[in-house]
Amino acid sequence: MYSFLLKLSVITGLFITVCAKSIREVGLHEEFLDERYYNTTEIANLLYKIEKQNPMIARVHEIGESSLGQSILAIEITSNIGQSRRILKPMFKYIANMHGDETVGLQLLLYLAQYLTSLYGSDDRVSRIVDTTDIFLMPTLNPDGYSASQEGDCNSQKGYAGRNNAKGVDLNRNFPQIDKKSFNMQQPETRAVIEWILNNPFVLSANFHGGAVVASYPFDKYYRNISQGGKTPDDALFRYLSIKYASKNPKMANGSACQEEHFKNGITNGAEWYELEGGMQDFNYIYSNCFEITIELTCCKFPSPSVLTKEWEYNRESLLTYMESVHMGIKGLVQDENNNPIPGATIHIVGINHTVKTTNRGEYWRLLLPGIYTISANAPGYNASVYRNILVKNDTLRSTTVNFTLHTLKQSSELIDVDTSNVVIDLSHWNVNVDFGMAKSNGTVAVIHKATQGIRNIDSCYRTRRIAAEKEGLLWGAYHFGTNTNGVIQANHFLNQVGNTSATLLVLNVEPYKNNIMTQKQVEDFIKTVQNITNNFVMIYASYNTLKNYSTPFLLKTPLWIALYNTQLKLPPGWDKWVLWQYTDGKKGLWPHGVNGVGLCDRDKFNGSIDKLRAFW
Ligand SMILES: *[C@@H]1O[C@H](CO)[C@@H](O)[C@H](O)[C@H]1NC(C)=O
Ligand SMILES: *[C@@H]1O[C@H](CO)[C@@H](O)[C@H](O)[C@H]1NC(C)=O
Ligand SMILES: *[C@@H]1O[C@H](CO)[C@@H](O)[C@H](O)[C@H]1NC(C)=O
Ligand SMILES: *[C@@H]1O[C@H](CO)[C@@H](O)[C@H](O)[C@H]1NC(C)=O
Ligand SMILES: *[C@@H]1O[C@H](CO)[C@@H](O)[C@H](O)[C@H]1NC(C)=O
Ligand SMILES: *[C@@H]1O[C@H](CO)[C@@H](O)[C@H](O)[C@H]1NC(C)=O
Ligand SMILES: *[C@@H]1O[C@H](CO)[C@@H](O)[C@H](O)[C@H]1NC(C)=O
Ligand SMILES: *[C@@H]1O[C@H](CO)[C@@H](O)[C@H](O)[C@H]1NC(C)=O
Ligand SMILES: *[C@@H]1O[C@H](CO)[C@@H](O)[C@H](O)[C@H]1NC(C)=O
Ligand SMILES: *[C@@H]1O[C@H](CO)[C@@H](O)[C@H](O)[C@H]1NC(C)=O
Ligand SMILES: *[C@@H]1O[C@H](CO)[C@@H](O)[C@H](O)[C@H]1NC(C)=O
Ligand SMILES: *[C@@H]1O[C@H](CO)[C@@H](O)[C@H](O)[C@H]1NC(C)=O
Repeated sequence: MYSFLLKLSVITGLFITVCAKSIREVGLHEEFLDERYYNTTEIANLLYKIEKQNPMIARVHEIGESSLGQSILAIEITSNIGQSRRILKPMFKYIANMHGDETVGLQLLLYLAQYLTSLYGSDDRVSRIVDTTDIFLMPTLNPDGYSASQEGDCNSQKGYAGRNNAKGVDLNRNFPQIDKKSFNMQQPETRAVIEWILNNPFVLSANFHGGAVVASYPFDKYYRNISQGGKTPDDALFRYLSIKYASKNPKMANGSACQEEHFKNGITNGAEWYELEGGMQDFNYIYSNCFEITIELTCCKFPSPSVLTKEWEYNRESLLTYMESVHMGIKGLVQDENNNPIPGATIHIVGINHTVKTTNRGEYWRLLLPGIYTISANAPGYNASVYRNILVKNDTLRSTTVNFTLHTLKQSSELIDVDTSNVVIDLSHWNVNVDFGMAKSNGTVAVIHKATQGIRNIDSCYRTRRIAAEKEGLLWGAYHFGTNTNGVIQANHFLNQVGNTSATLLVLNVEPYKNNIMTQKQVEDFIKTVQNITNNFVMIYASYNTLKNYSTPFLLKTPLWIALYNTQLKLPPGWDKWVLWQYTDGKKGLWPHGVNGVGLCDRDKFNGSIDKLRAFW
């Protein structure tokens, strides 16, 4: 009897498993719906478990740390996760719990992560979403606040403990804004998410809160000079996106879920509801290409966990529909006539005063309502390109593709008379047996030497050669070989090695190293930091092709030292001035390929006479 029962239960167990799977496949029953809140340890464990179980479509990212050192995690869900993002696949994000005591969104994102990963491959809609979208879910941006919050607290505690981070700061008042441009005052949580937003081309986003039931859209403030009545130039689109979310959630669509307030269609403009400054959704719109709205989920901020299943039911369709909206409008590539991507090109829609910019790979995404548009792409150094009568269909599953080819404007190309009268050479420890006396008598006027690389490395010859060169009365310069790490730290490392900078030309060398290269931001951070500390200008050194990726307004104004081993000098789009031209690396390019006392080496031409060179230095 005993063994028979056991057998039966095994068989029944099997049967139930099979059965449950087929029910789950049609999305009616979700095994992951345990009605309780996960603490921050459990959240991390769950996210890593999802990653482990779905290595092809899920990956956990730590985007920063909270004030108390807890990890701020996001899980990425998309097909082909191990590879770099497929070109033109849009990035989407959901962020919850930036107010640590507003907790329902946190659990919903944990459910959503499990829903997407468990149904991928069996449910057509989920598979399509995961295949076409690079999704990021961040259950909590404020783990410290969450840990300090109390289950059952419908309103914030005294002093906003739990709502705020551990330093007592409300993170949704902590973002830089249009008339408060400081990027230095932020909390660690805010800084982490700002870097994340600025360094990734997110297209669409929502941010979950509690204490009301409504979808609220930018602006959150009446910026008197750029908006009328708190409206963004994309007001109609934001209203549409908000209604998309609200209309699928019966409680939100009703508009009167919480007693004291009524929201028509379950949506509101942020500023119209109540004004706030330093919010995340305004930051997204003002400083990035991303469109974000704020979703308030429950009247009670930290309700009993018994509401969680119901809240998942109310929000599941909204969550999916809103993610699908990332495909509204147009997307495409902006390239030059040789099919090279143009980073930082601006996409302008006639009639909407809000532009988006292309990524390093030349991609852009522009969310738009169905309609007919005139669209232009612009980049410094290129002829603008305009398309008229672009039809955007009412199809949120597929964007309209509009690619642009921009033609390079006439270059300032000039034949340079390469004389040896103003010899500038640049060296590093790779050049051995250096005799500056001989180099000087062969016409050398100035030497630029490698000082440092990355955040640790120093050039072993820098100091001794500096002394030797100064003894010969040669002008001296120092360059830093930048790597793909923090620009401020690199700047300080460089200055430590260079020491007294007053008679030294300072250069940042931007070139690939181990398949990596500094980002635009790292380059700017480096230069600005050195300038700030030394009060001297910094020159940027890079090849013609590399420079094309760094045509930011700031860098276009930076003194240029260009490497181009060509018979003619040609400047990349955007740059109209050069100071130094490295015309040979000792092997390629114009002659001569070296100098007495050094042998084959990098030689550089200064734009001007020796007197001008001395004056410039
Ligand atoms: C989180 O929950 C787990 C499991 O319930 C428990 O063992 C752990 O102590 C909790 N951690 C914290 C920091 O509360
Ligand atoms: C808006 O006005 C503020 C203060 O009047 C000013 O600081 C800011 O630069 C203005 N912004 C724009 C975009 O004009
Ligand atoms: C919203 O819900 C309340 C209470 O359930 C109901 O009385 C009211 O008619 C609903 N309003 C709308 C606009 O559906
Ligand atoms: C477009 O917006 C910018 C600020 O973002 C503002 O300075 C400019 O005046 C606006 N242009 C028009 C035509 O409204
Ligand atoms: C797109 O079509 C859907 C369904 O036909 C409709 O509900 C929606 O309002 C349309 N959207 C726009 C912006 O016209
Ligand atoms: C735009 O470029 C992408 C990427 O090269 C390509 O897949 C797509 O077919 C192009 N679309 C059009 C309309 O030319
Ligand atoms: C740039 O556009 C202008 C005006 O449309 C045109 O005359 C010129 O030939 C274009 N230049 C290039 C390089 O395409
Ligand atoms: C410098 O050296 C080159 C050979 O490398 C020689 O042709 C040239 O005449 C020398 N110039 C001077 C000024 O010594
Ligand atoms: C730095 O160098 C300049 C020029 O060589 C010199 O005049 C100055 O005294 C030096 N400053 C220090 C602090 O050594
Ligand atoms: C440079 O210094 C100014 C004034 O001291 C400061 O406002 C700015 O933030 C500094 N910039 C950098 C990149 O350190
Ligand atoms: C410019 O950026 C693109 C995209 O990141 C990269 O593929 C390309 O290699 C870069 N070009 C140079 C010369 O660094
Ligand atoms: C060369 O230098 C002169 C100043 O000496 C400047 O006017 C000119 O614009 C520079 N040429 C280029 C192409 O940078």
